[in-house]
Amino acid sequence: FQPKVLAGRRVLITAGPTFEAIDPVRGITNHSSGKMGFAIARAAAEAGAQVTLVAGPVHLPTPAGVTRIDVRSAQQMHDAVLPRAPAHDVFVATAAVADWRPAAEQGEKIKKAEGQRVPAPFALVENPDILATVARLPEGQRPWCVGFAAESHDLVRHAREKRLRKGVPLLVGNLGPATFGRDDNTLLLVDAAGERELATADKLTLARALVAEIAQRLPAV
Ligand code: C5P
Repeated sequence: FQPKVLAGRRVLITAGPTFEAIDPVRGITNHSSGKMGFAIARAAAEAGAQVTLVAGPVHLPTPAGVTRIDVRSAQQMHDAVLPRAPAHDVFVATAAVADWRPAAEQGEKIKKAEGQRVPAPFALVENPDILATVARLPEGQRPWCVGFAAESHDLVRHAREKRLRKGVPLLVGNLGPATFGRDDNTLLLVDAAGERELATADKLTLARALVAEIAQRLPAV
């Protein structure tokens, strides 16, 4: 039995990696599977929320009752999220967004010249920080924001710092190595009151627990 703790709430979620094209056949991406974000979308829908899931390139089925928008690059993810954010009560940013993208996508495949020993350099430019941008929307247009952090060391300190830097009420740290692609995870919740661990479990169990934690913290309607 799942109590409908998010009944009447609208939840926007980003999930998966982004893909930043270099040329028509190559790009910069990462190993995010999207599993945690998709599990949160499913858990939020089970809890009665109206859920919009903005997904980078992943191979996962859309959870029942969830509206899905597929995007490829960080800029596309940003452009899908920003106009929708003010109509949502909660924004959960689980996507592993590339920090940088090639300044220009080459129209044709970059070829290695005969005898070439050194690659042609290309410039990178910064991608927008989707979470930080949503978290800074004016009061009344700003959903209640949840950020994620995957760190290899000093998770508690980094998670606390990241919460303040992003300006979000709740930051969720992935505890333990190599969470990408795995079915289980351990989460550390960091908010203004302190830290709390959600013990190791499969991602759907953790997503349901996280949804309950978010519901408790939401301002009353
Ligand atoms: O700064 P860092 O990438 O470690 O922050 C991670 C958090 O910020 C995640 O919640 C991620 O989804 C979000 N993020 C974002 N846009 C970016 C970079 C990160 O929404 N360009």
